[in-house]
Amino acid sequence: MTVTALIVAAGKGERLGGDKPKQYRQLGGKPVLRRAVEALIGHPRIDAVRVVIGAGQEALAAAALDGVKVGELIPGGAERAESVRAGVGAVGSGIVLVHDAARPFCPPDVIDRLLGALSEHDGAVPVLPVADTLAKGDRVLTGPVDRTRLLRIQTPQAFHVEDLSFALDEAGTRTATDESSIMIAAGLKVAAVEGSEMLAKLTTASDWERAEIMWQARMVSRTGTGFDVHAFEGPGPIIMGGVRIDHPQGLAGHSDADVVLHAITDALLGAAALGDIGQHFPPSDPQWKGAASDLFLAHAAKLIRDGGGIIDHVDCTVICEAPKVGPHRAAMQARVAEILGLRPSQVSIKATTTERLGFTGRNEGIAAQAVASIRMEVR
Ligand code: CTP
Ligand code: MG
Repeated sequence: MTVTALIVAAGKGERLGGDKPKQYRQLGGKPVLRRAVEALIGHPRIDAVRVVIGAGQEALAAAALDGVKVGELIPGGAERAESVRAGVGAVGSGIVLVHDAARPFCPPDVIDRLLGALSEHDGAVPVLPVADTLAKGDRVLTGPVDRTRLLRIQTPQAFHVEDLSFALDEAGTRTATDESSIMIAAGLKVAAVEGSEMLAKLTTASDWERAEIMWQARMVSRTGTGFDVHAFEGPGPIIMGGVRIDHPQGLAGHSDADVVLHAITDALLGAAALGDIGQHFPPSDPQWKGAASDLFLAHAAKLIRDGGGIIDHVDCTVICEAPKVGPHRAAMQARVAEILGLRPSQVSIKATTTERLGFTGRNEGIAAQAVASIRMEVR
């Protein structure tokens, strides 16, 4: 049976505020809506994802979902219930998982539990117990509320499309804040499966702070190494770490032969497991002839950041007898930091000779090795 995820993203996010509705704001370098969609699209049981958006949100949604396969965007309504109704009408048949765009981190095991429970019930929703003491009141408490058997209801909520359509018809103009309420009102059986704190909805500023922490917690540190060599050939100057250095000898290479930037680029690509510099910029391709290597380094950094990654630090050792790196170290550090969008304190440039041993010792060329530390989300 086809499983369609229906993500409602037509709200205005008034309680959170900000310059745009919360589902379009960047959380850890990615729009909240994109995170919500990717979490569901990535699940093996989900066949398609459709998204309901608000009037005037077309450009924001298109930017947030660039390159994500969600079919045509569905226009929503003024209330969440209307948005769901519009979406369900567009889904057709099979199973639908109705989900709030404002819940960016859906763990895959919740979806497994929902679909498992749906085989024996008309619907299934993720729930969590209420742990805190509950009370009525405003500024002053007026009395406790019994929390036994109370549950917090989350999304995604799983239903057979026909059952949900029936419940929506039964509800008529009555609206609810979720679909389990109208399913129950229509006499249908809705199972409660274990939800997740990761599914907490982004509603207020403190929810946003918590989501930032959740995102940070999903990051793991990764390390990559890079190594490069260029032979001396012809007259100088040479380019190292993006800095022009006067030297009697030049370096042979297809691009500008910047060993430092090449080694750091490979270290970054390695940390992200994204191949190597030759794969991204083949030396056989004439467009990279004489190219400034800033381009290669900036590209590696962009790939990492586009994937939601953070670059923490790079460290490079230049191996040569000459030129002396010391006088240029600070300029190289500043330039590499600038290309990577880092602070200079996150970039280290070191140098050593090889005591006149080997090809660098014989002054035949320059080698560089680099290490990059990044953080990336586990996928
Ligand atoms: N939603 C929707 N259509 C609406 C209202 C809400 O699709 N007319 C969506 C929101 O985009 C969100 C989810 O329903 O993904 C849950 O709603 P809520 O948290 O209330 O979001 P907003 O309505 O955007 O926020 P607020 O109520 O603070 O304005
Ligand atoms: Mg709302």
